[in-house]
Amino acid sequence: MPLMNLGFLASHRGSNMQAVIDACHTGRLRAKPCVVISNNSHAEALTRAKQAGIPAYHVSSKTHPSPEQLDAEILRLLLQHQVELVLLAGYLRKLGVQTLRWYRNRIINIHPALLPKFGGQGMYGAAVHEAVLAARETETGVTIHLVDEEYDHGVILAQCRMPVLAEDTVASLVQRVLEREHSFLIETLERIIAGELILPS
Ligand code: GRF
Repeated sequence: MPLMNLGFLASHRGSNMQAVIDACHTGRLRAKPCVVISNNSHAEALTRAKQAGIPAYHVSSKTHPSPEQLDAEILRLLLQHQVELVLLAGYLRKLGVQTLRWYRNRIINIHPALLPKFGGQGMYGAAVHEAVLAARETETGVTIHLVDEEYDHGVILAQCRMPVLAEDTVASLVQRVLEREHSFLIETLERIIAGELILPS
């Protein structure tokens, strides 16, 4: 079976991306990280990509002031690197219509809560876990979903649930959920690559 070509879009740290890269390199994932694109020229994700020998690009409104050209450039890079599946790994921008159309049902996002709750614009990082605690939820978790025009909105592909413990704080949830994200993303990609979890055509 050939390797599945992966492309990443990431705005900051890129720890989920790193987990996937590592799983590709150990052979656990039958996939190849082909390109990393960031809207943030200082993103740690770009440094991680370069260290792993993966082509890395800064593409943003600074490099492409027109939204249509920015969208076209992202799509061009994904196609140039023959990406089959796009992973949003902490990417804090909406994708443009050209990229969304071309890669319809082939772009996935990971979110540190049980969508459809606690998603949407601004629901990133600690804000998600603050909202979970403020709502006195007894459960939280990780959601992996298809990407569409709205933030954190597309079809849910996989979720894993975790208890919110009485002693949990924002910091403890940040850490515990992120650790689970890394393993759950690999598990879910394994199922996608093996054809057990079928993406809509
Ligand atoms: C993760 O919590 C992910 O769920 C969310 O953004 C965060 C990115 O973290 N979409 P990292 O950049 O992968 O470390």
